[in-house]
Amino acid sequence: MKQPLSAIVLALATAAVANPASANPQLAAEKQCTACHAMDGKASGPSFRAIAKKYRDRPESSDMLVSRVREGGWGHWGDMMMPPKTEPSRVSEEEARALVRWILQLR
Ligand code: HEC
Repeated sequence: MKQPLSAIVLALATAAVANPASANPQLAAEKQCTACHAMDGKASGPSFRAIAKKYRDRPESSDMLVSRVREGGWGHWGDMMMPPKTEPSRVSEEEARALVRWILQLR
């Protein structure tokens, strides 16, 4: 079974649009991450680019970040705390992974 490359690329692009977990800037807004995180510059939380810079060379930290996204965290950036995600902004493991993947690839 050989498929032309363009068909594969098209299938991947379609999957990225169809799968909400891949639409990450939108997902971050939907899950209200952007209430506390800006792309650049400090809001109540560190900027997404600052988080990327701190962790991108430490791939082993991504599991930890996934659980921090879901369960919240405190004391890694300052004295503001990130609350655990509950309704209505509950984040599934899959969504948290997608968000962390997106954050860590920011430059
Ligand atoms: C109520 C404000 C608030 C919301 C909403 C929020 N955050 Fe945070 N976030 C923070 C603060 C404050 C910190 C810094 C916590 C610390 O110092 O450990 C943080 C830290 C982080 C970190 C870095 C964790 C670490 O240990 O270095 C990541 C990643 C992150 N947030 C992602 C998200 C994502 C994704 C969402 C949405 C699902 C989100 N945050 C929603 C306030 C928030």
